[in-house]
Amino acid sequence: MKKIQVVIERRTDEAKDVVSLVLRRPDGENLPAFSPGAHIDLFLPNGMTRQYSLIGDCGDCDETDRYEIAVSKAANSRGGSLCVHVALNEGNALEISEPRNNFPLQPGHDTFQFIAGGIGITPILSMIRHCERRGWPWRLLYLARSRAHAAFHGELSAFGPDRVRFHFDDEAGFLFDFAHTSFIVESGVPIYCCGPAPVMKAVEDFALSHPDNPAFFEWFSPPVESGPGGVATGFDIRLQRSGQVLHVPEDRTILDVLEEHGYALPCSCREGMCRTCETGVIDGVPDHRDYVLSGGERAAGRTMMICVSRAKSPMLVLDV
Ligand code: FES
Repeated sequence: MKKIQVVIERRTDEAKDVVSLVLRRPDGENLPAFSPGAHIDLFLPNGMTRQYSLIGDCGDCDETDRYEIAVSKAANSRGGSLCVHVALNEGNALEISEPRNNFPLQPGHDTFQFIAGGIGITPILSMIRHCERRGWPWRLLYLARSRAHAAFHGELSAFGPDRVRFHFDDEAGFLFDFAHTSFIVESGVPIYCCGPAPVMKAVEDFALSHPDNPAFFEWFSPPVESGPGGVATGFDIRLQRSGQVLHVPEDRTILDVLEEHGYALPCSCREGMCRTCETGVIDGVPDHRDYVLSGGERAAGRTMMICVSRAKSPMLVLDV
C-alpha cells in the first residue's frame, strides 16, 4: 500500500471529544483526489492503523492540497482514537494511505436523505458539501447524544430546520425511534447512513419496511451483536498462482493463515470494513462476513474480504 507523508497543519476542537485535523504534504503539493464518502488510513504513532472519512469535497474543488478528518474519542477506544487525541498535534508528521471509497454516492439520483449518528457525520458532511456545490436537494437527520457532542453543528444548523433535523438524546429525553417518531422519506429517495451500530441497525430496519428507498451504509465499527457471522468451521484454500493448499482452522482467518505462511498481503482494519484485503475467488463459495460488499457482489461470490470471511464450501480457490 502506497503511503503518503503529511504534516498536521491545524487541529481544532469541533465538539466534545471530537477534534478535526487538516493534513498537507510537507512540500505543499497536491494530494490524490477523492469523492464524497472516501476515507484514508492513518498510520498512528502507536503502530495502529485506523480509517477516517475525508470531510471535504475535493472531487472538483479548489483545495486539492489538503485533507480534513474528524476523530471522536471513543469511550471504549482500543487505542486508535485515543492516540489521535493524545499524541497528534499541529506540526507532527504522519503517514496516511491514498483515499479509498466504500461509500460513494450512487449514480442515478440527485436528491438524497442523509442520516448521521455521532461522528458518522463525517462522510455525510462530505456528501452534503458535494450536493451543495451542484444544487442537488438533500435532507439530513443528525442524531447525537447532546448538542455539545454534535460536530459541525454550526455549519449544519445554518441550512435551517427544513433541511437539517437534529435529535439530541439529552434534550429529547429519549433515543430517536424510527418506528414511532415521525420520519418521512419521499418514495425513491436514497438513504445514506453512517453512525454507531444501533443507529445503523434501526435504519436497516426502516429501509426494509421502505423498499422504494435504496439504502447505503458505512460501518465504522462492527455491529455490537454477533455480526453477520455464524459458527466458524475449518476449510481449505488453494492458492491459484502456486497451487499450494492450506488449511484454515476454525479459530483462524484466511488472512492469518496466509501471513503465517509468509504471504504479505494488503490489509488494514482486519474487521471487514475497509476493503483493503479484498481477494478474488476463482472457485468455491465464500461465506461473506464483511460490511462492505453489496448484495450483488455477495451473490456473485467473485471476491471476498479474507480478514473475516470464510467458506461455505470445503475448498476455496483464491487469486493469490
Ligand atoms: S483488512 Fe479491512 S476489510 Fe479486510
